[in-house]
Amino acid sequence: MTARGGPGLPQERRLVTAIPGPRSVELLTRRTDAVARGVSIAFPVFIEAAGGGVVVDVDGNSLIDFGSGIAVVSIGNAADQVVAAVSEQVAAFTHTCFMVTPYEGYVAVCEQLNSRTPGEFAKKSALFNSGAEAVENSVKIARAFTGRAAVVVFDHAYHGRTNLTMALTAKNMPYKQSFGPFAPEVYRLPMAYPYRWPTGPENCGSEAAAAAISAMKTQIGVDNIAAVLIEPIQGEGGFIVPGKGFLPALSQFCTDNGIVFIADEIQTGFGRTGAMFASSDEGVVPDLITTAKGIAGGLPLAGVTGRAEIMDAPHVGGLGGTYGGNPVACAAALGAIETIEQQDLVGAARRIGEIMLPALRDLQSRHPVIGDVRGRGAMVAVELVKPGTKDADPAAASAVAAFCHREGVLVLTAGTYGNVLRFLPPLVMPEHLLEEALTVLDKAFASLGG
Ligand SMILES: Cc1ncc(COP(=O)(O)O)c(C=O)c1O
Repeated sequence: MTARGGPGLPQERRLVTAIPGPRSVELLTRRTDAVARGVSIAFPVFIEAAGGGVVVDVDGNSLIDFGSGIAVVSIGNAADQVVAAVSEQVAAFTHTCFMVTPYEGYVAVCEQLNSRTPGEFAKKSALFNSGAEAVENSVKIARAFTGRAAVVVFDHAYHGRTNLTMALTAKNMPYKQSFGPFAPEVYRLPMAYPYRWPTGPENCGSEAAAAAISAMKTQIGVDNIAAVLIEPIQGEGGFIVPGKGFLPALSQFCTDNGIVFIADEIQTGFGRTGAMFASSDEGVVPDLITTAKGIAGGLPLAGVTGRAEIMDAPHVGGLGGTYGGNPVACAAALGAIETIEQQDLVGAARRIGEIMLPALRDLQSRHPVIGDVRGRGAMVAVELVKPGTKDADPAAASAVAAFCHREGVLVLTAGTYGNVLRFLPPLVMPEHLLEEALTVLDKAFASLGG
């Protein structure tokens, strides 16, 4: 395939066939025959090129990308600096294994992570291939440092699909069903979920923190807890922004009790929420941060970064993996970080939020199926309910997503109840496409009727 993507692609929504078009239909049939059914797809078109705010399918349709490959290509697909850095690295060498013969790119990415994550103290990093692997390693590191076993996670959490991260993830279907038994010493506590907090959103942060702290003391035992692990804004769980005060209270409790506070910034990191890292919104300084997704412009790379004394707790040889911090992925990450800085994509994420949140609230005022509008920066969502209630309406979310897909706008669903539409545009999304996608969304809600 020789199609060229990147920011030079025409930034337009263009439908030349029905969705999916004939070539995609053909490939979907081959996919059904060749690919295990457990690997599902959200949008039934095959892609030939992508860049800026669009993906172009094999039938020539140009679709507005409100998914970024699940929050990965924040800098846009096939971004110039990533293409250049990767091409140069691929031509030099593709792999040695950092644990065998090291190379500078790995060290340079760790230096970037150490200096850009919150906290003015000595930090170190280690690199891996996927978000789940980073989360697993953050738990290994916290256990080695504390000599304790228990890990605290929250309702609606998503941390991955490996055995330990399935245990850390809240939602059964589709992530855990029939895949047990799961790793032990994982304790799940209530999440500060403002929209669904029984005494109202204004009490959510403080009451949820008090409940979590009480449970840690009475049900787990503070001295048994290695880590509290939380997404600063929950991703797959439905873009739940914790009630104010929840994260700072948990972080302080961890500091006071020798517990490692781990922020899973795999979805929220690298500018997505209008800050380089979402933890900084309430001034929270995690002990460890996991990163992946937006770090490398689409190449597989993940990291754990944090206090040097915690990161150095595991013995020599205790961390690593054949491909972790692959040189090509590291080159991509350095190009991606440069792009975020040079194009002020953190500011661009804030601007996207400034456009989208009021627009979605306006939709809410006209479409009572929208129960809640939430998020920050370019990580925003609507939660759909039966009008006049808070009963989840996953069928409405599916219908709106399907309408958008037919009209050439790629949106994703999420949420424990499957009733959240989430929007994750690339941070380089041109404003006219943002506006156009919002118009399609309005029509999609209108199409629900009553
Ligand atoms: C917050 C969070 N943690 C962990 C993961 C797992 O990352 P990966 O799919 O790269 O293993 C994800 C992926 O969606 C995520 O959003």
